[in-house]
Order: sequence, then structure tokens, then C-alpha cells
Amino acid sequence: MVAQRFASFGESVFAKFTRLAVQHGAVNLSQGFPDFDGPQLAKDAAIAAINAGHAQYAPMIGVPPLTKAIAEQYASRGFDVGHGKGVIDPVQHVTVTCGCSEALPATLMGLLNAGDEIILFEPYFDFYIAGTVMANATPRFVSLHAPTRAGAPFTFDEKQLRDAFTPRTKAILLNTPHNPTGKVYTRDELELIASLCIKHNVVCISDDVYEHLTYDPALPHIPISTLPGMADRTITLSSLGKTFCLTGWKVGWSLAPAPLSACVRAAHQFITFSGPTPLQHGAAAIIHDMTHKPSAFVAQIRSLYASNRDKLAAALMSVGLTPHRSDSTYFLMADHSEVSRRLGLDDDVAFCEYLTREVGVASIPPTVFYDTKSLGKPLVRFAYCKKEATIDEAIKRLGALKK
Ligand SMILES: Cc1ncc(COP(=O)(O)O)c(C=O)c1O
Repeated sequence: MVAQRFASFGESVFAKFTRLAVQHGAVNLSQGFPDFDGPQLAKDAAIAAINAGHAQYAPMIGVPPLTKAIAEQYASRGFDVGHGKGVIDPVQHVTVTCGCSEALPATLMGLLNAGDEIILFEPYFDFYIAGTVMANATPRFVSLHAPTRAGAPFTFDEKQLRDAFTPRTKAILLNTPHNPTGKVYTRDELELIASLCIKHNVVCISDDVYEHLTYDPALPHIPISTLPGMADRTITLSSLGKTFCLTGWKVGWSLAPAPLSACVRAAHQFITFSGPTPLQHGAAAIIHDMTHKPSAFVAQIRSLYASNRDKLAAALMSVGLTPHRSDSTYFLMADHSEVSRRLGLDDDVAFCEYLTREVGVASIPPTVFYDTKSLGKPLVRFAYCKKEATIDEAIKRLGALKK
């Protein structure tokens, strides 16, 4: 009975591997969510909002304290939506959604017509494909290639990117920092993407949900909307979940010039209309706080994740898996080919099933994030956004692969 547009997707890989993790008592490094709580300030503000009777629908664009806090946060970082650096109007430019998960289909459905083309980098967050399908648009892919040299980042081919732009291209969807590779796009890469957007009059949708989780001061997140010529053609998407370990709160948003905000809102008003009111008040408190003083909470999780990443990478290496560099996000990718060859396993799905069942560590097979499946088959994705003890337990179990 499932409509054709969704039938080919089947069960989400996150649902499958979380189910397998539970079934086999595995340490769950598959789905990207922290196994600890978010900041008390946000929780107290949300509880206070419930007790104060904020129980009715929020305005379609979000509650005023939150849209204002988001506008101030971006303004303080020099963002521009076409009116000059730091000039952001919460009413015209900010739209609060149910997580970035809703902002994505709202943006894609609100912007794209049937037959329009959108450029996606592979591997991609799987919502991008589903959202493109919902919008009846056509994806064109540009591949991020795994490095062949240890310590190098994933990169794309300039010619493939140039060739992906056609007269039917309406948008490009950029995700920096990038899930699942942990790549942070460099200024040179962003300048190339920006120049092509300008040349071909294309809108850039920039999914920045991991914007605050970068671990190398030499490689900071650069918002593409801050590059010359991009302010009035970028829709920036982000959310509370990754930054503050509140993935279940589902508070996300878009930031865009008024004509592009109108696209997001055209669809958002008929998807959820608005997100949960008390949680928006909680989000407002923590975002306001972060704008006015450096967040100790964020500094702490950044340092925990960087340390988890290093420990996990060293452990993977010691059992014959080759970790790739991850400069950001919750994730690192590793090459499992050597171990799989030894164990007679065919591909990433077989490897991840084996790892969950026999070793007791759940991960994600990345072919689901690729159009060119051969690029994903040698890889496995691990989430390191966990307590130190969870990573230590996973490392202990991974030792079984040595045998
Ligand atoms: C790249 C990317 N975009 C968007 C989302 C969804 O964001 P949210 O949790 O705010 O719905 C995720 C969550 O995994 C993600 O990895």
C-alpha cells in the first residue's frame, strides 16, 4: 500500500540498526544521538514555559523570543540576508520548524517545481533524497571521494561539480560540516560553489546543523551565506539538537532573505504549522545565553567528542579498520575492506550486521547515503557523540576483531 514515491526507501537504516543493536545488546554507535542530557538552562526554561501555561499553538514562524534569539545569534556572527552584515529581522528572515528534519522537506517542497534539478553531494543525509522525491525534483550528484592518503579529507572533483550545473538547476544542497564524513568544507571549496551558484543563478540550501561542532581551530565552519554574492541566494538551515544534545526536542529553523523565507513558510504552514511551544521557549533561553557569553556546555562537548574521536580512531586502526579524518560532527568513516575480506563479508551492510551481531557494536552501512553505491561499500560510519564510558565499552568489544 505504500505510495510509489516512498516504496523504494524501505525501512530506514537508522531504525534497522537501532533495532538490531537492542536485539543483540550492542553498544549503539549507529544513530547519531548523544547518550546524555542537554543543558539545565534550556530544560528549566522549557519547564517554566509549561508551568506558565504556554500550551497553545506557537505562531507559524516561531515564538517571538526564539525568532529574536536566533536572529541575534546570527547577527552577532556577521550573517547577512541581503541587507548588510548583521541586519536580520526575526519576522521576515527566521522560520522555526520541527527540527531541521522538517526544515529540509519544507524548503525543498516550497522551492522546487517538478522537473527542477537540485545538486546533492554524495554521501548525503538520506532526508535530502526523500525531500527531493517529495518535491518531484531531479537530483544530480557530485561525489565526495574518500582520501587515498592517510589524514587527508574527503574531496570532490571540480569538473564533476561544474558539469552538474545545467539550465534546469534551481538549487544546490550543501551540508557543512558534513554528515557522514566529518568534512568541513574549506574556503576555496565554498568559493568555487558560490561562484557557480552566482554564475548559474542557483539557490544554495546550506544545512549547517553541525555548525558549532568543529574540532580543529585551523578548520572552522564557514557559512556560505557570508561569502560575497551569497547573502540573497542562501537558505541556511540549522537546529538546536546537535549543538545542545537535545535531538529529541526537534527545534530547528531556517534563516533566509524574505523571498526565500516565503518558500520555506509556504510548505511549513501545511506540514506542522508550528513546533512545540514550551520547547521553543527553552531553545530561546539557551540560544540567547550562547550569544551573550561563550557556552561552557558546547566547549565541554566539543572537547569530549574530539577525545572520543581520537580514541575510537586509534582503536579502529589497531583492529585493521582504517579510519578517515573527521574534523567535525558526530561521525567518522572507516574503511572495513581488509577485515571484511578476512571474514568473507561482501559489503558494508554485511560488515555492519556482523559487527552488531558478533562483536556487539552497532554502526551504519553508508551505501544508503550514496547514489554511486560502489563508493559506500568499503566504508562504515561510527557515531562518537557518546559518553566516554560508552566509547570505552565499544573499544573493548572491537578488540574481538583482532582474533
Ligand atoms: C546533516 C543533517 N541534517 C539534518 C538533520 C536533522 O536535524 P534535526 O535533528 O534538527 O531534525 C540531521 C540529523 O541527523 C543531520 O545529520
